[in-house]
Amino acid sequence: MSDLPNNIDNDILQDPDNQNDDSIDIAQLRTPIKVDLSPIYAFLGSRTTQSWVDAAITNLPLIIQDHANCEKKAAGTAMNLLFRYEFSYDLQRKLAQLIREEMLHYEQVLGIMNERGQDWIYLSAGRYAKGLLKHKRTYEPAAMVDVLIIGAFIEARSCERFAALAEVINDARLAKYYRYLLKSESRHFEDYLALAQSLCDDNIDERVTLFRDVEAELISSPDTELRFHSGVPIQ
Ligand SMILES: [Fe+2]
Ligand SMILES: [Fe+2]
Repeated sequence: MSDLPNNIDNDILQDPDNQNDDSIDIAQLRTPIKVDLSPIYAFLGSRTTQSWVDAAITNLPLIIQDHANCEKKAAGTAMNLLFRYEFSYDLQRKLAQLIREEMLHYEQVLGIMNERGQDWIYLSAGRYAKGLLKHKRTYEPAAMVDVLIIGAFIEARSCERFAALAEVINDARLAKYYRYLLKSESRHFEDYLALAQSLCDDNIDERVTLFRDVEAELISSPDTELRFHSGVPIQ
């Protein structure tokens, strides 16, 4: 069994969710926080298949590497939004917090790789983000709203997959880490969705439905590459 980095519990103690909350029992923070995933499952149009979970467990180093890539990309995407849309206080504040948290996750996954003796390898991006962004409208503010909705789906799917992996992974510390991530990633999903609606006068339901269908198709259809957000593995 591989161990998480020694500083993992300290990092959990520094979780921004917990900073100003005097009521939290520090001993509690050392066990993964239970998160209600029902809003995530209701939001997503499909569930991860057993064949993806099986392939992910069989190819865990690849999934950990791609997870590291995902955390870095999540921070990078949020940083791009931070520079592009400077008019909204809410957006700036939420994005700043999100970047901080995604970079913390990135550091933690790097630590996990280091502990496991896993070298960094180059992995090309899968089809998932491209497949979603292809449907983004190209004029403002529609483009911004679509990127925020896409962000909500990526965060929700990440959460769903961390939960699925944590259930079966044969490494108690890694399972604990994936459960720990559920809290922040599920909040990221809610933040992206709330921002999308708050920055748009029109109802966004139609766009959410479109991206739900596209995302579900990317997850449920055969995929030649295995990645953290890939579809059904081709045997
Ligand atoms: Fe993250
Ligand atoms: Fe996130």
